[in-house]
Amino acid sequence: MKIRELQPSDTKQVIDIWTSSFSRNFNNTLNAGYINDPNSTTMVVCEGSTIIGVASIHIIYKLSRTLGLIEDVAVDKDHRGKGVGKSLVEKLIEIGKQKNCDKIVLNTSVKNSKFYEKIGFEKNEIQMVIRN
Ligand SMILES: CC(C)(COP(=O)(O)OP(=O)(O)OC[C@H]1O[C@@H](n2cnc3c(N)ncnc32)[C@H](O)[C@@H]1OP(=O)(O)O)[C@@H](O)C(=O)NCCC(=O)NCCS
Repeated sequence: MKIRELQPSDTKQVIDIWTSSFSRNFNNTLNAGYINDPNSTTMVVCEGSTIIGVASIHIIYKLSRTLGLIEDVAVDKDHRGKGVGKSLVEKLIEIGKQKNCDKIVLNTSVKNSKFYEKIGFEKNEIQMVIRN
């Protein structure tokens, strides 16, 4: 099991994992410029040429503070419960710290909150949304 940065050739496998883990809304083309965006890092876990997990961190520079936002954490169904998700999130936390984030946040469901609590996250306030 190896953790490395996303390469353009991983895109199809990653979108398949996101689509089967979340929803059909992820079956989309990548946003233009994403791959070269210095403020976004997507890490993948692979076994040989097979991607088995993926997650991203987006660095948001505010006026005087720096925020790390972890998004789109997903592990292939056949590889869950083996520490893949935990290793990925811990790697993203390390990246956020290297980039001097004052705090690292993420949104999750109640169902998955224990997974993040085991890694060290605490519940904090609520999320609100407007969808387009
Ligand atoms: C949530 C998800 C990323 C977890 O990945 P995973 O590789 O299966 O998790 P790990 O094996 O690294 O689990 C680490 C620890 O958290 C626990 N854990 C994992 N998912 C959990 C859950 N939903 N509820 C409670 N505990 C959980 C594991 O039992 C393990 O505990 P241990 O260290 O005491 O053995 C994975 O189930 C997944 O991809 N789900 C679908 C997509 C999704 O919902 N992503 C999260 C978006 S916020």
